[in-house]
Amino acid sequence: MFKTKIAGIGSFLPEKVLTNHDLEKMVDTSHDWIVQRTGIERRHVIAEGEGTSDMIVRAAQKALKDANMKAEDLDLILVATLSGDYKMPATSCIVQSKLGARNVMAFDLNAACSGFLYSVIVADQFIRTGFYKNILVVGAESLTRMLDYKDRDTCILFGDGAGAFILTRAEEKETNVILTGHARAEGQHAELLWAEAGGTKVPFSQAVLDNKSHFMKMKGKEIFKNATRTMAACCKEALESTNTSPEQIDWIVPHQANLRITEAVADQFKFPLSKVISTVHETGNTSAASIPIAFDMAVADGRIQRGQLILLTAFGAGLTAGSVLLRY
Ligand code: UT7
Repeated sequence: MFKTKIAGIGSFLPEKVLTNHDLEKMVDTSHDWIVQRTGIERRHVIAEGEGTSDMIVRAAQKALKDANMKAEDLDLILVATLSGDYKMPATSCIVQSKLGARNVMAFDLNAACSGFLYSVIVADQFIRTGFYKNILVVGAESLTRMLDYKDRDTCILFGDGAGAFILTRAEEKETNVILTGHARAEGQHAELLWAEAGGTKVPFSQAVLDNKSHFMKMKGKEIFKNATRTMAACCKEALESTNTSPEQIDWIVPHQANLRITEAVADQFKFPLSKVISTVHETGNTSAASIPIAFDMAVADGRIQRGQLILLTAFGAGLTAGSVLLRY
């Protein structure tokens, strides 16, 4: 069996920004409420006329450059998203063409906000077995296109962006590798966070548009409780399966949904908050994109360094959750 290392990283946030003060003019909310309850100050919004694939290409090109690779070097393109360009075909196919990659396998994976970690775990298996060598794994979302800007329960939380890792086969003696990954799903809670209509069960109709049932709906309090429970469980699995103690972790990079959720998870393991990467104030919740964006920002500002032990953890609609422990 081979091992997997991160060869390059990159991210992209659109230029347009939506602040809490902008939202005050759209729904009954306030900057202070949003900051106190979530930590979010602003979020980025995809440019008019662009799709998720356009953000992915920019993030992927940065990651390829960081890895000193070309698009032709890729053996697999894996895109984690719930807000792809089209219902069909997969956004990963659009990305394959736009990047100028070979006609390699390309597929999308929908595990909502846990999608990036699910995808890293899948890519890691392909590399471990020797089936593929160089894999582009992306988390990307255009969630602002799926929100009802009259629903303050959801519209204050989410933003757009893309983040990419290039994963590759490590040399035998290399120790900066992915150590373990754990993921789960609890479909009995699907209705806590969903976009009910627009799929095959409730197809598009005038009634759907009138009821706005194609927009995302959320039971925030329940999601909050389940988020802390499932992320903590996945982190525990990662630590126990590798005999790692919380004190050995240099950084935890959690899904960026709500600062209070992050703090509750950190508290369970007695991780000091100084070891928790938080970018939610700048990005809001970018679902599958949030972990690779936060990781890239923390590498860019010098917090995350090569050789450090990093714990990634996420939760999302499904409900899904996951963790990945790696040495960067
Ligand atoms: O990737 C997964 C995505 N989902 C999540 O991460 C969501 C997880 N849940 C949360 O982050 C939190 O539950 C929220 C931020 C959504 C809400 O925070 P909360 O502390 O659970 O607030 P709440 O729903 O208990 O509401 C508290 C008060 C209520 O008023 P009263 O009854 O105390 O008078 C709400 O009506 O705040 C009010 N409220 C708002 N006020 C201003 C609810 N939403 C808003 C709002 N602006 N947007």
